[in-house]
Amino acid sequence: MSSTIPSQQKALFLLSKQGDWKVDHTPVLKPKAGEVLIRVESSALNPVDWKVRDWGLDVIPEYPTILGCDSAGVVIAVGEGVKSVAIGDKVIHQGEFDVRKGSFQQYNLELSHLVAKLPPNLTFDQGATISTAAATAAISFYGPKVDLGGLALTPPWTNGGRGKYAGTPLLIIGGASSVGQAVIQFAQLSGFSPIVTTASLSGADRLKSLGATHVIDRYADLPSSLQVITATPFSLIYDAISSPETKETAHSILAEGGTLIIVEQPGVKEAVPTKEVIAPWAGVNQSPNKEIGAELMANLSALLENGDIKVSILLCLLDCTRNSYAVGDKPNMVEVIPNGLAGIPDGLDRLRKYQVIAKKLVVHPQETL
Ligand SMILES: NC(=O)c1ccc[n+]([C@@H]2O[C@H](COP(=O)([O-])OP(=O)(O)OC[C@H]3O[C@@H](n4cnc5c(N)ncnc54)[C@H](OP(=O)(O)O)[C@@H]3O)[C@@H](O)[C@H]2O)c1
Repeated sequence: MSSTIPSQQKALFLLSKQGDWKVDHTPVLKPKAGEVLIRVESSALNPVDWKVRDWGLDVIPEYPTILGCDSAGVVIAVGEGVKSVAIGDKVIHQGEFDVRKGSFQQYNLELSHLVAKLPPNLTFDQGATISTAAATAAISFYGPKVDLGGLALTPPWTNGGRGKYAGTPLLIIGGASSVGQAVIQFAQLSGFSPIVTTASLSGADRLKSLGATHVIDRYADLPSSLQVITATPFSLIYDAISSPETKETAHSILAEGGTLIIVEQPGVKEAVPTKEVIAPWAGVNQSPNKEIGAELMANLSALLENGDIKVSILLCLLDCTRNSYAVGDKPNMVEVIPNGLAGIPDGLDRLRKYQVIAKKLVVHPQETL
């Protein structure tokens, strides 16, 4: 390891199940064989971070732990056998909920095959927001057809995958969410059509530029809005919000024999055996999705660089003053929370209260006082 690597760093610990947060010092760990050590320059906040803490989700091996599942940074050391990335490479990766790999710290570790090079057209803040949304969408469509997996469709990065599902209609609840925007884009790569989504209408043009064919006002009555577009019930619905209300509505309008994808457990209260409900889990290094997760990360950089997945739009180029969206090279609507890691609990509180609309919150861990 290089001598410029500090022995100590700061991290935001979740001290116990449903417990308190604390910024504390902790050693910078050395990469094991196959791993890289990353200096985290930007780390994004996701709803799952507050849900794990508030709901005490059973995904934490031991406490105290470090959360955070979306970051971008620079490789500063590599473990034995690592060939795909080198010291100095800028990378993005998902992170995992433990003290070695959580992204709410200044330096974290990752398996080298699970990092994607940050394309030159993206900033650290942009890159930090993409992994989990992309993983949720990709695992849902292309993950294995088992519990916590997906639909086992052919991914667009393999031979014959692109456009393979042409003519298959898809309804997405919540297309403007981070997950929803990634779902629209992977659905378009796979050929789904029409791609109908619900959202605030102020974002309709932006969602159409990503691949949505129809945008329905999310505050309007969904069944009657759909009637205007098609009388045929959808056989595939992706609920990218998965609140109790959206899940029940989506399930009630799903065609008999159809499939509803939800991103939040528990399942649907009034579920019937004639309608399938699947609930993928987006961990790229977790069973049963390790293989598709690695495939996604191996292809993510190219997808971003080619513009197949448009992170700059994913980040909502929102002109708040006019409440309208623009597509192009304008500055991204990423809000950098001050005070580095110490700002995360307040940021998660805003996510918990649904006060963050059409933008991503990120922190710069290196700015932690
Ligand atoms: N299963 C997994 O592994 C996994 C992984 C990641 C995320 N998730 C879950 O996925 C969900 C979305 O997360 P996210 O990070 O994508 O959220 P997000 O980016 O914070 O979503 C915010 C957007 O959701 C839209 N929205 C809110 N309520 C809506 C409703 N009732 N109908 C339609 N749109 C609505 C709003 O869009 P408008 O601007 O259009 O109003 C808002 O801008 C969360 O429940 C999260 O926990 C699950």
